[in-house]
Amino acid sequence: MAWLLLIFLCLGSSRAHFLNITSKFEPDLEGRLLSLLLTLQTEKLYDTLLIYGRDCAFPSLSSRLQVPTVLVSSGSTNFEWNFSSLTLILSCEFQAEREENYRTLMKLQVARRLILLRGDFQPETECDFYSKKDQYNIAMVKENFDQFGVVYSCRLFQDRNYEEVNISDVTQIFVEQFRNMHGAPIRTITDNLEPRSMATQDPKTGKKKWIGFVANLINNFIEKVNATMDMPQKLTEVDGKIFFVNISKWAADDLLDIGMTVDSTWEMTNFDTFSYPYLTSSYCLMLPLPDLVPHNEIYGVIIDHGVLGVLLVLFLIFSMMLIYIQQKSFRGLRLTRVLMNDMCLRGFLAQPFPFPRQSSRKLKLVCLLLCFASLMTTTMYGAYLHTFLYSPPSEPVVRTISDFEKSRYKVAMNWAEIDMLRSEKHRKLHRVSDDRIHTFEDFQKFENLRGSFDNDFVFPVTSVRWSTYNEQQKLFQHPVFYYSDDFCLSRYSILSFPIRRHLPYRELFEDHILRQKEFGLLNHWIDHSFLDMLRLELTKRTDFSKPLEDKRKICVDDLYWVLGLYALALGIGGCCFALELLRSLNYWDRLKEYKWRLLAYLISYLSYLISFLKFKRF
Ligand SMILES: *[C@@H]1O[C@H](CO)[C@@H](O)[C@H](O)[C@H]1NC(C)=O
Ligand SMILES: *[C@@H]1O[C@H](CO)[C@@H](O)[C@H](O)[C@H]1NC(C)=O
Ligand SMILES: *[C@@H]1O[C@H](CO)[C@@H](O)[C@H](O)[C@H]1NC(C)=O
Ligand SMILES: *[C@@H]1O[C@H](CO)[C@@H](O)[C@H](O)[C@H]1NC(C)=O
Ligand SMILES: *[C@@H]1O[C@H](CO)[C@@H](O)[C@H](O)[C@H]1NC(C)=O
Repeated sequence: MAWLLLIFLCLGSSRAHFLNITSKFEPDLEGRLLSLLLTLQTEKLYDTLLIYGRDCAFPSLSSRLQVPTVLVSSGSTNFEWNFSSLTLILSCEFQAEREENYRTLMKLQVARRLILLRGDFQPETECDFYSKKDQYNIAMVKENFDQFGVVYSCRLFQDRNYEEVNISDVTQIFVEQFRNMHGAPIRTITDNLEPRSMATQDPKTGKKKWIGFVANLINNFIEKVNATMDMPQKLTEVDGKIFFVNISKWAADDLLDIGMTVDSTWEMTNFDTFSYPYLTSSYCLMLPLPDLVPHNEIYGVIIDHGVLGVLLVLFLIFSMMLIYIQQKSFRGLRLTRVLMNDMCLRGFLAQPFPFPRQSSRKLKLVCLLLCFASLMTTTMYGAYLHTFLYSPPSEPVVRTISDFEKSRYKVAMNWAEIDMLRSEKHRKLHRVSDDRIHTFEDFQKFENLRGSFDNDFVFPVTSVRWSTYNEQQKLFQHPVFYYSDDFCLSRYSILSFPIRRHLPYRELFEDHILRQKEFGLLNHWIDHSFLDMLRLELTKRTDFSKPLEDKRKICVDDLYWVLGLYALALGIGGCCFALELLRSLNYWDRLKEYKWRLLAYLISYLSYLISFLKFKRF
């Protein structure tokens, strides 16, 4: 076995039965170290010991301390181990630990270390060595520790990189150095993407600074730990905005400490180069609001099949009742008489009809009911029609992919999103055909198009960004887009800050994130985003909604169906009349007999022409 692992809990002297670690080291040094470790234990600075190396006092000491201990005598492991955050690492000599697994290293990065220096090693070089490895909680004791009682504690941000601490001052051995970084630089870079980080000028100092719900958090952190912001010039040289995926990449390559951006972590297997989640948001499509139904189709919209069926049944019942009451039997009941009942037809269209002269009480009652029915239906349809003509309803919204394929919309997407779209996870969206997708290589162009509210396109957007678009379109004459919960690239994406893998103040930063969120600052910043954008003139007050045409007046096109059906009905009427005339041989006599009917036809044709011409004039 490459290394030996023994975890045991000291349970007093019974340990000696199975572990015989006899003391062959100087008893004074051992006693002093034991009292140091006991003091550290009472200060609650550790609850687990991890000992690297074998030839020193530490392994034998551990049996006298009542804590779980891990012995790594060969100095290295190649397995991913999980340790408690309060692990104290004891090294038998300088470089006794040769940890191989980088994930175990990461977990042990912030652990406190106590190193026994043997030979003529100098604390200065040792501290340098560890700080290059991004390990900062280092204390060292020399072999003459029992005589002087001095612990050498590495210090950052100061000229002599270590301090000699008197053993009686235990709290000074391990101090949290990153709480005050004394102006040390934190390398960061911004994606300049509103509303999360927006460049502006500090009114007091005149320096460039960034605001927004991502930038604010970083600024506050830098201020809190007394550091300075350092934007690497080399990386910012590229003109225009930097795509946030590149920032994540640079952070993963150790070119940055913390990226001033948030990236989603859906394809990550671990959070090595990402911080604790900062916010969650859904990532869906924003779709143009459906168009209004054109005026000439409104006559069709008000016709509901169910209602029409009920009206037909009512008509048949009334018609049969009228025939039965007038004839006092069902003998005269024929389909044509029922369907073409003159009284009933006129009644239902709210037209006057001849009231039978000798009418019984029953007949009067039926006629009364007919009047009511006609009043109800004509009022209902009239109200419907007027309302819709005044404010037309909108077409049905797009709900399925097939609706979408039938619509005129195209999906505008950035190259990074295409991969996401095509993955099997997005069951709904991956069926969108390729010719419907417009891919943008340049994120900036995509942003500009989305910002112009072009309603021929559909755009993916996070719910956080959508909230600002929604605020913006409240300034328009009418809203243009809506956020669709039906088409989502991700309903729950976790956004985190990209950070360097071995960021030594990761815990401090994550604690800062949680505190700022807990205080409600994140929500406040997000709510304030749009106002900030307006103030910095990053968003225009232009009304991108297409002005609605003034539909108060009606033109011939709008009456297309009405006039068409009217003409058709008149045509049928004319044909019937002609057939009636042709039935008898003596046309002239017939014509004389029907002269009033002919007149009526002529008048209706005339009125049709007049109304057509009248509308044509507008
Ligand atoms: C421990 O080992 C030493 C030899 O190294 C031996 O003399 C001693 O008796 C052992 N003690 C026990 C308790 O086994
Ligand atoms: C430590 O945790 C990781 C996951 O965080 C796991 O994959 C690994 O197996 C764990 N190691 C041990 C020894 O349990
Ligand atoms: C450490 O402190 C003790 C008491 O506070 C003092 O007696 C001793 O001289 C100090 N040792 C050194 C090396 O400063
Ligand atoms: C912050 O750092 C500066 C050095 O850049 C230092 O002068 C100042 O004292 C520090 N502030 C605090 C509160 O320690
Ligand atoms: C970002 O990365 C892409 C490829 O990953 C590259 O084409 C592009 O030039 C990079 N942008 C910048 C600003 O470096």
